[in-house]
This record gives sequence, structure tokens and C-alpha cells, in this order.
Amino acid sequence: RGPRALETDLAGRHVVISAGGTREPLDPVRYLGNRSSGKQGYALARTALARGARVTLVSANTGLADPAGADVVRVGTAVQLREAVLKAASDADVVVMAAAVADFRPARYAEGKIKKKDGEEPAPVELVRNPDVLAELSAERPHPAQIVVGFAAETDDVLANGRAKLARKGCDLLVVNEVGDHKAFGSEENEAVVLGADGTETAVPYGPKEALAEQVWDLVAARLS
Ligand code: CTP
Ligand code: CA
Repeated sequence: RGPRALETDLAGRHVVISAGGTREPLDPVRYLGNRSSGKQGYALARTALARGARVTLVSANTGLADPAGADVVRVGTAVQLREAVLKAASDADVVVMAAAVADFRPARYAEGKIKKKDGEEPAPVELVRNPDVLAELSAERPHPAQIVVGFAAETDDVLANGRAKLARKGCDLLVVNEVGDHKAFGSEENEAVVLGADGTETAVPYGPKEALAEQVWDLVAARLS
């Protein structure tokens, strides 16, 4: 199968992609955030559009240009992202969770800016758990044929941690990145292994985020019935 022949293999499909990183506000001027740029999620959106899909892109704090033809929903926090993704997923064939979702959020939001006081130590920030959107999507699919894809960034024991995470989340595919000095965050390139719930393992060599996106769609298209 040549790549040209696959150009419209997602025609008639609705795919939902989350991208970017959530921000969890602490007070009107501060938040807990992460280093996700959103570039991998946007590359997934552009390539899915090129392959004929209808795309809903749930974008968290990216500042990237809207891919032409995508339905873009902007969100800030993990709770907002969950709401937008679950809503869009109700008629989706595929959901890809490329966003970095904060695991925790501040337990309390200060309505006024938190001020320091002379001679006083800072108060600790109490955190509470955010919902796990990927686990929820995987467990409560609106129809059994829906394909759910997760992403994971790991610093050590990449494959073992990835396999355990795939099983824990219950998704069909998990794209595992090794994060290091020049990989993944903010860069234009990525290297990954895509783990399948069916035991498959697909290594994607270091290259543009578009190439990883195309590989993900190849694996998804092969699983769409
Ligand atoms: N994810 C999610 N909701 C969360 C946290 C993560 O949907 N509250 C999704 C991410 O979008 C990603 C996948 O789960 O697709 C894996 O994220 P990761 O942070 O690697 O997994 P965690 O279960 O949070 O594990 P860890 O403790 O390693 O952070
Ligand atoms: Ca996490």
C-alpha cells in the first residue's frame, strides 16, 4: 500500500483530538502548567484533515494557528477539556488524547492575587486530583467500535511504563515518547513507540511530528471497521 493510496482513508470519519497543555489557575495572575506546545496534536489534526476526516480539535493554551477546516474548541483547564472532549466524542469514530492534562489542580482558587508578607514563609499549595479523561473515554465509549488513542511521555523504563499505562487506561493505542533534552516538548521532531492493546509495537524513528501523526492514522485506519 503506497502512502498516496491512503490519502482519503479517513473520509466520513469524525476524529476528536486534544492538544496542548492545561493550565490550572491559582489566583487571577498565576497557574500550574506544563511544557506541552500542542504541535503534535496540531500535526495530527492537519494530517487527519488531509486524509479526509472531519476534525474537532480541543486546544488547550497553544497559541497555534487553527488548521483550515478543523472545528477548534479552546479550553483552559483539565475540567474544561474533559467537558469539551466528552461532548465531541459522543459521535466520534476516533478520539486522540495528545494533550498534556494536569493530574492535579489547586484545591482553592484565590479570588485576589496571593501576596507575600514580610518575614512570612509561603503557605503550601494544596492540590486535588483532576479527572482522568483518557481512562473515562476508554471505559465509557458511546459505541463499541470507537477507537481511543493516548499519549505518554516517559523518562525511564519507557516500554515497561508504557505497557502498564496502556493496560491501566484501557485505550486501544498508546503513543509513548521518551522525553529528553531535545525530544518531544516544544520541538518539531519526535520519536516514539506506538503500543497496541492487541500486543503490537510500532517504532517510529526520530522525525517530523507529521510523520508520527501519519503513522498513528495508519494504525487507526487499520483498526476502523
Ligand atoms: N490524561 C488524561 N487525563 C488526565 C491525565 C492524563 O486524559 N488527568 C491522558 C493524557 O492526555 C495522555 C495519557 O492520559 O493521553 C497519559 O498521560 P500521562 O500523564 O502519561 O498518564 P498518567 O496516568 O497521568 O500517569 P503519570 O503519573 O505518569 O503522569
Ligand atoms: Ca500525568
